[in-house]
Order: sequence, then C-alpha cells, then structure tokens
Amino acid sequence: MLIPVVTTIQEIRAAVADARRCGKTVGFVPTMGALHEGHAALVRAAHARSGFVVVSIFVNPTQFGPNEDFGKYPRTLATDQQVCADAGADLIFAPIPTEMYPEASVTFVEVSGLTDVLCGPARPGHFRGVCTVVLKLFNIVGPDVAHFGAKDYQQARIVRQMVRDLNVPVEVRVEPTVREADGLALSSRNRYLNADHRAAAAGIYRALQATQSRATTGERDVVRLEAMLHTDLATIPGVRVEYARILDADTLRPLTQLDRPAVAAVAVSLGGTRLIDNVIIGQ
Ligand code: PAF
Repeated sequence: MLIPVVTTIQEIRAAVADARRCGKTVGFVPTMGALHEGHAALVRAAHARSGFVVVSIFVNPTQFGPNEDFGKYPRTLATDQQVCADAGADLIFAPIPTEMYPEASVTFVEVSGLTDVLCGPARPGHFRGVCTVVLKLFNIVGPDVAHFGAKDYQQARIVRQMVRDLNVPVEVRVEPTVREADGLALSSRNRYLNADHRAAAAGIYRALQATQSRATTGERDVVRLEAMLHTDLATIPGVRVEYARILDADTLRPLTQLDRPAVAAVAVSLGGTRLIDNVIIGQ
C-alpha cells in the first residue's frame, strides 16, 4: 500500500497534530528523494523509536551551487513512496519550491567554523542551504527525533551544532552508513556512475579501511596517515581527489597526533560524479 503524500505546510502540520492527539511521538527523516537502502534504514530507525514517521522529499535549491546537479538530481516520487511504505513511514511531505521558499525569503542559517573545512570550501553556500532548509523543516514538521546518515558526517555534525546553538527542541540521531557488498557507501548520486567508475568506486572504502587498520596497528602521525590515504585514493582509476583529511571528530579541527577520536573523511570525483565517505578512527 502506498502512503499518503502531502505538499503543503498546512496539511503536514494538521497530520502531525492528529498523530500527537493520538499520543504518538514524531520521527522525521529529511531527504531529497531518490531513496535507496540507506534512506530505508533511516526510516526503519525512525519507525523503531517513534509512533508516527514523516519523510520529507525536497530537492533543496539553496544547497546546490550554480554548476552543480540541481537540474539533473533524480526525482523518483513513485518509487520513493514504495521505499517509505516498506520501511514503515506514515507520511511523505513533498513540498514544491515556492511552498518552502516563498518569494522574498531573505533569512538564512549559517553555522561558522565547522563549515570552513572538508566540503565547505568546495561547495560555497552548501551548508547554509542545508541548515536553512533543515531548520525550516524542523519548524514545519515539529518532530521529536530526526534521523541523519553518518555518510554525510559533516552535515550531521553541523545540524547537531545548529540544534544546540538555536535551542531547537529535536533530538538528532545519526545512523550508520549503509554500504554495497563491495563497500561503496550508498548515495543517490551512485546512479550517475558508469560501469567502470562504479567498479573503481569500491576503492574509496578500501582506502578508508586501510587508514583504519594503520591507525589500529599503531600509526599515530596524522600527516603520514593523511598522506597515505591520499596516495591510496589517487591510485583509483579515473579518480580526482578533492580532499583526504583526518580531523578531530568533534570539532573538525586539524590534528597532528591521533590522540582522540578522529574522522577520516574523503571527497573524490569519478567521471564528474562527486562522492564522499568517512570512517571514525583513533577511538
Ligand atoms: O542529506 C540530504 O539529503 C540533504 O542535505 C537534506 C538533509 C535532506 C537537506 O536538504
């Protein structure tokens, strides 16, 4: 059975209010659609904790740069509805852009510091767009718990910071990355890869695993670890490495010694498709 889709703020607020009147807690999974097993895992996690689960599907224009893939980002509402139903969602909120950004919207949310590293410099304005839409969605849906994927480590860290700094009454939970059998992290953008690039993409997680095992077997020098990670990634056929960094897992600041939990985070481009992934090391 397909689950209902509502498109207006008035409808979603009414549906959430009804669920609350029935004593249900509200779980929320914000997405841009093109749902895959990683999103399904987020919905299942939400379903396990909350009595009423809302999934938003909105390809958010403000988080795409002028030369990025906003126009070609896959829009697959019918399949998404099935994924949501199978995973235990109750309702989809799929607004049109003018519902989210009426003409003359001039207010944006910026988190500083955490946005200056990793994906921030390569995607100016991206996290401002993410924070703005996520805060708007939190205000519109009013969930108790919101679920994000660990693949977008920096996004999840920034959203947590925003929630803390702006006293947003929502619990942010970060769920483990879901991977293909060969280790590639699931992403809506994997469908852009041709067969050669798809096969090569498995090398991203292999490089991160090699970093993890060097850390586990005693390498503590972060400059060396980063250099080896970069070299491993650079051997992937057809790759362009955007960054390969090992940063403090909490502050996202640089480290010299692996003396605390750190995130090894990478961004690469394969045939023009930008892919990111990460693992936690040094725990
Ligand atoms: O991770 C995503 O899909 C998006 O950045 C999000 C959180 C739905 C905001 O548009």
